Amino acid sequence: MSHWQPDSWRSKPILQQPKYENLQHLEAVEQKLASYPPLVFAAETRELFKQLGQVAEGNGFLLQGGDCAESFAEFNAPKIRDTFKVILQMAIVLTFAGRCPVTKVARMAGQYAKPRSTDLETIDGVSLPSYRGDIINSFEFTPEARMPDPDRMLEAYHRGASTLNLLRAFAQGGLADLHQVNRWNMAFVENNPLKERYQDMANRIQDTLSFMDTIGINSASHATLHETSLFTSHEALLLNYEQALTRTDTLTGNPYNCSAHMIWIGERTRQLDHAHIEFFRGIHNPVGVKVGPGMQEDELMELIDALNPENLAGRLTLITRMGADNLEKNLPRLLRRVKQEGRKVVWSSDPMHGNTKKASSGYKTRNFDDILKEIQQFFAAHQAEGTHPGGIHLEMTGQHVTECTGGAYQISDDDLAEAYKTQCDPRLNADQVLEMAFLVSDHLKTK
Ligand code: PEP
Ligand code: CO
Repeated sequence: MSHWQPDSWRSKPILQQPKYENLQHLEAVEQKLASYPPLVFAAETRELFKQLGQVAEGNGFLLQGGDCAESFAEFNAPKIRDTFKVILQMAIVLTFAGRCPVTKVARMAGQYAKPRSTDLETIDGVSLPSYRGDIINSFEFTPEARMPDPDRMLEAYHRGASTLNLLRAFAQGGLADLHQVNRWNMAFVENNPLKERYQDMANRIQDTLSFMDTIGINSASHATLHETSLFTSHEALLLNYEQALTRTDTLTGNPYNCSAHMIWIGERTRQLDHAHIEFFRGIHNPVGVKVGPGMQEDELMELIDALNPENLAGRLTLITRMGADNLEKNLPRLLRRVKQEGRKVVWSSDPMHGNTKKASSGYKTRNFDDILKEIQQFFAAHQAEGTHPGGIHLEMTGQHVTECTGGAYQISDDDLAEAYKTQCDPRLNADQVLEMAFLVSDHLKTK
């Protein structure tokens, strides 16, 4: 294997990148970013590595979720707070009802770059470069907006930094206190049919807390009752940005990507001899790779060897995104082979990206039942193969949106227009996430 450098990816083929016009400007931005402070600290990243190691060994569950794409336009405290609360609420259901420790990883504070199916978008005979996420260009369909602009990387860095700052404040400043579990409900969950079940669980948590308080275990004596840890993650697609935020950790001497605790490679850029695998193999973070229905067993083994040659538990998360109709045929053969070869990985299910459809109204959507079916089949396949269903990866938001059909409120194709806000893929809303949490917790319990 050739020598790794933070920039050795540059000599490899690379897909899904913008074409910047002014390369001097690009280089100046990269240099500036490289001089900025890191967004995360390597020791935190090692803590996540350790927790994921537990998950890989069958003890624990990974909950990863957030927007498909964060947007510069919708950058405000309520939005960050509500997504934080939804993640927390789901984690508490999985921990309490599912009796399983949960590691929370947000798709936030850097989820700004998107792979696209075509380089150009054509509307009414006019073709412009596709929107590739706010770190690259802007969503509006004008030539100026769609021109890739390196300065957007600086903007993404600053927005990532303030998102992370608020998340840390929420996690450690009291919002995550278990005594507040009743208050995490957002107003519009008020009428959720599952509210009673949630309320009942919250009451049982309160009872447990009062009992513990009586015997001297409380927020003052045990920080875990008062604080939580939430890690960040994104698809590391734009390697100019990722390289600029790669730093050598002074404690270990190892290079870490300090733009997030965990980063992953998308389904479209995981070719073995390409740039993304090259960049990822040298950094010491826990990393993920999306695994679609076309993945072959031998290819997967090569991928695992490239990214985790030392077979460290917690280093590699395989995020399967098969589609409800393809999972039964394609996941078991992969589980079997990885188990046979003794490779330590976290298996996580992304039930979103294999289930995207176009509604008759023209909106891109996903149906709640398809998402649920993929999750159920994921658990069933692991049970049959004797492997650990280690986590789920969701596109979700704390905002009241109507982007995915179905769920307890039976959102229909006709309802999509009411609050369709995503700049990219359709997300589950807080009601749908709560429902999903209870259904998943039932599986965790019987595992
Ligand atoms: C995503 O997670 O938003 C994404 C683009 O996924 P995939 O690479 O699996 O298509
Ligand atoms: Co997406």
